Amino acid sequence: MSDNKAFLDHINEGYKTKGDFITMGAAMHNGETVTDAHVKVPLKTLNRHGLIAGATGTGKTKTLQVIAENLSEQGIPVLLMDIKGDLSGIAAASPGHPKIDERHEKIGIPFEAKGFPVEILSLSEQDGVRLRATVSEFGPVLLSRILDVTETQAGIISIIFKYCDDNKLPLLDLKDLKKVLQFSTQEGKKELEKDYGRISTASTGSILRKIVELEQQGADLFFGEKSFEVEDLCRVDENGRGIINIIRLTDIQDRPKLFSTFMLSLLAEIYGTFPEQGDSGRPELIIFLDEAHLIFKQASNALMDQIESIVKLIRSKGVGLYFVTQNPTDVPDGVLGQLGLKVQHALRAFTAKDRKAIKLTAENYPISEYYDTKEILTSLGIGEALISALDEKGRPTPLAATMLRAPMSRMDVLTDNELKALLKKSKLTSKYNKEIDRESAYELLGEKIEKAEAAEAKAAAKKEREKLEKSKSSSRSRSRRTSTTEKAVIKVLTSATFIRGALGVLNKLLK
Ligand SMILES: Nc1ncnc2c1ncn2[C@@H]1O[C@H](COP(=O)(O)OP(=O)(O)OP(=O)(O)O)[C@@H](O)[C@H]1O
Ligand SMILES: [Mg+2]
Repeated sequence: MSDNKAFLDHINEGYKTKGDFITMGAAMHNGETVTDAHVKVPLKTLNRHGLIAGATGTGKTKTLQVIAENLSEQGIPVLLMDIKGDLSGIAAASPGHPKIDERHEKIGIPFEAKGFPVEILSLSEQDGVRLRATVSEFGPVLLSRILDVTETQAGIISIIFKYCDDNKLPLLDLKDLKKVLQFSTQEGKKELEKDYGRISTASTGSILRKIVELEQQGADLFFGEKSFEVEDLCRVDENGRGIINIIRLTDIQDRPKLFSTFMLSLLAEIYGTFPEQGDSGRPELIIFLDEAHLIFKQASNALMDQIESIVKLIRSKGVGLYFVTQNPTDVPDGVLGQLGLKVQHALRAFTAKDRKAIKLTAENYPISEYYDTKEILTSLGIGEALISALDEKGRPTPLAATMLRAPMSRMDVLTDNELKALLKKSKLTSKYNKEIDRESAYELLGEKIEKAEAAEAKAAAKKEREKLEKSKSSSRSRSRRTSTTEKAVIKVLTSATFIRGALGVLNKLLK
């Protein structure tokens, strides 16, 4: 018992906070939950990012749910990436269960059932507030990283952006970008060369192929207007509770490129928009990425560097990123090294590879006189996890095997009718769900090309007419030869520019 008392003191001392905090649960010792040994995370260090890891079915998503609810209750908005579609239940109250009561009794926190304010967002045609970004907002650097182009090609992308900027050609969607790229080596070749240098057809060809690849993953749905204003993620409801924004991404699992494109654009936009945060002691927004390995999968080195630096920088804007994944090794070292809160659920030791991963994971946790980390990693039960956080001074808290509290909301999805009712209540759908295709680079360049071609054709026709007049008057006797007018018409009809122009008109008519 005295050992337990010493343990209780050890936890209470290590998790003492002066400011506001959220409570994760109570620490466990010798397999027993020590009531009131509360494991608390100060709001002040929540922008220092985190990781929730563990084998399948050990409770990662419920931990995410618990943290999200407690943040909402503190007035902090949350953004959840719902890859598996199992998070909408946050909007409804938990039906409760004797096992949940038992859990909470052990922890020493009364259980309360309630739902939370939720906004449903979507990247594709699923119901919910549509999330979009324009190509201009995305910017040349990020776009080059996502497309994984060479340095020379990245230079061309920058020129294209500059040209569009200088000529007031809005780059809204991928259609615009492709049009300007084509223009730069065809009709606009001379114009661009004069001001910006040579652009090779081989390079634009490679860039175009990469864009098509991105489109095949459905990126054309994401690029365009109306672009989402990230401030809309930071709302609170009429009772001062933070809105929990859930992005439904169930249809995106097999499209990692689209997912990382979207994530990076969102983070870059947040970084660019949010003001630098002083020492307010609380985060502005907390983002959870369930199934986080998806953004790191297939990411090029350049993209990885970009992710690492955004993770580092975004902290100063009061934004915390939480990665949820099965194995901590899914997250690259450069990101892993920056994470303040670590919630490690049980790992399974089936194979030699598993045992190696467990050893590696254990080495990443602070040493504790109360636990054999390696051993405990395989013996944790469902809804239990090893936790290490940062205290208000930024020092690591003592390692605590924790019995986590249960979510106050439903641990299941909303029914179709509940979801419909929730979507109906949304204040953002009317703002974002209109299809807009305003005049942009595609149309403006199309017009410019058409005008130039019409002028060219007119001039050519005039020249031929004059020639004809001349030849008519000089020699009317040579009538057996093919008429020059005929020749001129054939020439105009077969000239590359004319065909392109005619096809352009056809395309327009067919639309
Ligand atoms: N904190 C908790 N309180 C009560 N029950 C829990 C808790 N955590 C997990 N559980 C139980 O364990 C089940 C599995 O949890 P969860 O869905 O969070 O696992 P997961 O690690 O996200 O799994 P996967 O890797 O398959 O996504 C839940 O449906 C719930 O019954
Ligand atoms: Mg899960």
